[in-house]
Amino acid sequence: MRIVYVIGTRPNFVKTAPVIGALRARLPQGRHTIVHTGQHYDRLMSEVFLEELGVPAPDHMLEVGSGSHAQQTARVMERLEPVLIDEEPDLVIVPGDVNSTLAAALTAAKMQIPVAHIESGLRSFDRTMPEEVNRIVADELSDHLFLHSDEAIENLRAEGIPNERMHFVGNTMIDTLVALEDRFRAAKGAERLGVEPGEFALVTLHRPALVDGPLLPETVQQLAALAREMPVVFPVHPRTRKMMEEVESDHPGLLLTEPLGYLDFLSLLADAGAVLTDSGGIQEETTYLGIPCFTLRDNTERPVTIRAGTNTLLGLDPAAISGIPAALAERPAERPEPPPLWDGRAAERIADVVAAGF
Ligand code: UD1
Repeated sequence: MRIVYVIGTRPNFVKTAPVIGALRARLPQGRHTIVHTGQHYDRLMSEVFLEELGVPAPDHMLEVGSGSHAQQTARVMERLEPVLIDEEPDLVIVPGDVNSTLAAALTAAKMQIPVAHIESGLRSFDRTMPEEVNRIVADELSDHLFLHSDEAIENLRAEGIPNERMHFVGNTMIDTLVALEDRFRAAKGAERLGVEPGEFALVTLHRPALVDGPLLPETVQQLAALAREMPVVFPVHPRTRKMMEEVESDHPGLLLTEPLGYLDFLSLLADAGAVLTDSGGIQEETTYLGIPCFTLRDNTERPVTIRAGTNTLLGLDPAAISGIPAALAERPAERPEPPPLWDGRAAERIADVVAAGF
């Protein structure tokens, strides 16, 4: 069996690493080819992650880089097609919801190569998010849908996708977290930044709706106000860094860092007193770890994290950041049960399904 894995961004690497490992172990005679689209290309956004996750060096680097949505999608398609012609895979595996995911699913589907989608069936029901469009198209075009939560089943049924294409396997991002737990617990990220475990807020923001528009200066002001209550650690995504430089926002009291490697980031996440984010994956990681998460968005494609009790939607409203200290004071202390099949074994289930011929 010949399998091509197409990855392009930080969260793609985290979600796919355990699947590559499980399938290589299960199908040692198979050909396993890794294609890196190059959507994320800085060393801190790409190589560091692949090394920490133990992903073998990619066989093909498409080097598409940054650009508009159409440019990025088109470049992946143009550069992936000849690779798939050469490799003649039996299956193309794509993770998540980024532009590389959409482009790879579309290229393979047009070549009549079966596609499997990791993290299928998430819906925010908000098509102003580029990721929502990517999810809908990737799911529609995929032959095999790997679901990480039970709510995906209803979402996919509502779009007319038959049960035979769905496989509820669990969350491969949590597989990675479980596999790295000893290493990130030993990393002592808080100590190295001079903050007390349990006492600081960890912030990540990168979505265009928040950082590309007029909300960014007010958000930074609100973070500076929060920093007067508790230390605020903010590893800054390159998109956000660029926009912060453009608006020349002042950021007193914030501990700004470069993008962090995954072990350093998870170390801080596990020790944070609160997390403020607009990321999808971080809503899940905090649910698994039982850390209070405040999501600066109007909606989430991951309502399972809200039902678990760890995640609170603040809305796309920087003023809501001021309510975090009071909300923390009222929170129940217990760590909830993780959602079903978020147990570190999702990639094994994917390997079972693929090895059995679906
Ligand atoms: C992308 C995904 C988003 C995902 C995020 C994870 C899409 C539409 N968006 O957003 O869903 O949550 O990745 O991080 O696919 N840049 C660098 N170095 C890099 C990569 C990006 O400097 O290695 C800068 C560039 O200025 C670039 C900007 O970041 O224009 C945005 O990068 P892009 O990949 O287009 O989107 P992300 O915001 O990273």
